[in-house]
Amino acid sequence: ADPPLSLQDGFVRVDRDYVAQAAELARAGGCKHFILQSSRGANAQSRFLYLRVKGEVENLVQAVGFDRCTILRPAVLLCRRQESRPMEWIAQQFLGAVARLFPTAYSVPVEMVARAMVACALQPGERKVEVLENGAIHELGKEVPQQGT
Ligand SMILES: NC(=O)c1ccc[n+]([C@@H]2O[C@H](COP(=O)([O-])OP(=O)(O)OC[C@H]3O[C@@H](n4cnc5c(N)ncnc54)[C@H](OP(=O)(O)O)[C@@H]3O)[C@@H](O)[C@H]2O)c1
Repeated sequence: ADPPLSLQDGFVRVDRDYVAQAAELARAGGCKHFILQSSRGANAQSRFLYLRVKGEVENLVQAVGFDRCTILRPAVLLCRRQESRPMEWIAQQFLGAVARLFPTAYSVPVEMVARAMVACALQPGERKVEVLENGAIHELGKEVPQQGT
């Protein structure tokens, strides 16, 4: 969902401007492969602010010109939060149950996203820009063993 009006400026600054600036600094410091956590549905033409900003930051990071740029577009993140987010908690309970039937359809555990990022960093890239949708994140995340396995 789009953030409330009072939080929208901060959202754009944190989710787009700071990320793009961090990418520029990383490139200037010699970074060759940048991995960006975006979101399912990211689209710079979207009429929804959240998805539009995510699409815009994808475009800005690609334009920085890394040798390789990987964009992850996870669906709803399943995770434990310290802060209270009642609506997200309800969605997570529901999607956690749905995930038992359709594990890759609507959600992804944050640990799986982190493992997918590690996997992309370890594997050689085939394309300059790779976009990983939720199903691909699950697939790639399985390639990195969980702690203790
Ligand atoms: N949650 C999901 O289901 C989901 C799904 C797909 C993609 N994503 C993407 O995955 C990333 C992490 O998701 P998340 O839900 O964990 O993000 P989040 O909690 O909304 O924010 C992540 C970080 O950004 C900071 N932040 C957010 N708004 C801010 C503001 N106005 N001013 C200053 N700092 C601000 C937060 O700081 P504080 O810790 O101080 O609050 C936190 O460190 C985000 O890029 C999100 O768009 C999330």
